[in-house]
Amino acid sequence: TRIEKAGYKHFMAKEIAEQPIVLADAIKHYCRGGKINLPEELDFATLDRLTLVACGTASYACMTAKYWFESLAGLNCEVDIASEFRYREPPLPQNSFAIFVSQSGETADTLAALRYARDKVAKIVSVVNVATSSIARESDIALPILAGVEVGVASTKAFTCQLAVLLLLALEAGRQRGRIDDAALAEHLKALASLPGLMNQTLTREPTIAATAAAIAEAQDVLFLGRGAMFPLALEGALKLKEISYIHAEGYASGELKHGPIALIDKAVPVIVLAPRDALFDKTVSNMQEVMARHGKVVLITDAKGADEASYGTWKTLTLPELPALLAPILYALPAQLLAYHAAVAKGTDVDQPRNLAKSVTVE
Ligand code: G6P
Repeated sequence: TRIEKAGYKHFMAKEIAEQPIVLADAIKHYCRGGKINLPEELDFATLDRLTLVACGTASYACMTAKYWFESLAGLNCEVDIASEFRYREPPLPQNSFAIFVSQSGETADTLAALRYARDKVAKIVSVVNVATSSIARESDIALPILAGVEVGVASTKAFTCQLAVLLLLALEAGRQRGRIDDAALAEHLKALASLPGLMNQTLTREPTIAATAAAIAEAQDVLFLGRGAMFPLALEGALKLKEISYIHAEGYASGELKHGPIALIDKAVPVIVLAPRDALFDKTVSNMQEVMARHGKVVLITDAKGADEASYGTWKTLTLPELPALLAPILYALPAQLLAYHAAVAKGTDVDQPRNLAKSVTVE
């Protein structure tokens, strides 16, 4: 069947808007009767290590998942980009799983990394959108993310669905390893089930986000900051913006600001701060204030409580619904995507087919 834009100006806009629906589908597929429904062979109980490998946006989903596997399951977790992993001869413990994350399932470096890991680890697991892909076929266990066909070169709905599936894996690992009891699991699953609704609420903020994006489109350089599991999202936000608007953007861990990027700050540099009001909020806010003291233009993305406490002196504050800290990387992906999208639209670039980029990189 032919995939249409269904009234949207770009596939990317359509795919951003589809996220509440596809995410709900993915959650439904993997959660039944208050339990996580995953293949039985996925036994994390006595595992020594997990290795996660991917390219591009999928690699940022892996980086986020590392925070989850460590904190929820106490599982050693290593993450690498496939083009490095495949050549650096990493020793892989037998008692480990290697997880490969890929929208297309055809990325050459990720496939080569999978082949390197084969016969070295207990199980090759893939998290893929295209269920018939090479990566899916060559895995012991292929977990579909159920995002539906993604056409826009810049990945959006595949990213949030990858995150949801990886979070469910981490929750299941935590359960099997005795760190999450039934009551806690039920709480987590309830929160996850509310995410599509929160995404819908977030999407209603699109006009405000678009206005901010139009202002950002004037900039030459943009920084994204985040701490903890919001750090990989800072990297993803910067990637999205540079890919489609051609504005130079970098993502940094908030705490690294003073080790370099603060030298770039002046009144022309927008700094996007991804800061739900979680345990690390005060730390991030103090980094943000260092930016404001140097006249950087701060766009604070937070929730209502965070906005109350910290919006004084920011250039713009975008308020999202409150939600458990665990889920924030998934919800906060939406404003990051929308900022990039509307900055690109304001600049008039080819959003769905940015120059020099391909949807699926099947050559090295
Ligand atoms: C390309 C695409 C990105 C994608 C990356 C990895 O660079 O433009 O959007 O994240 O490949 O692709 P995969 O299909 O393996 O997720």
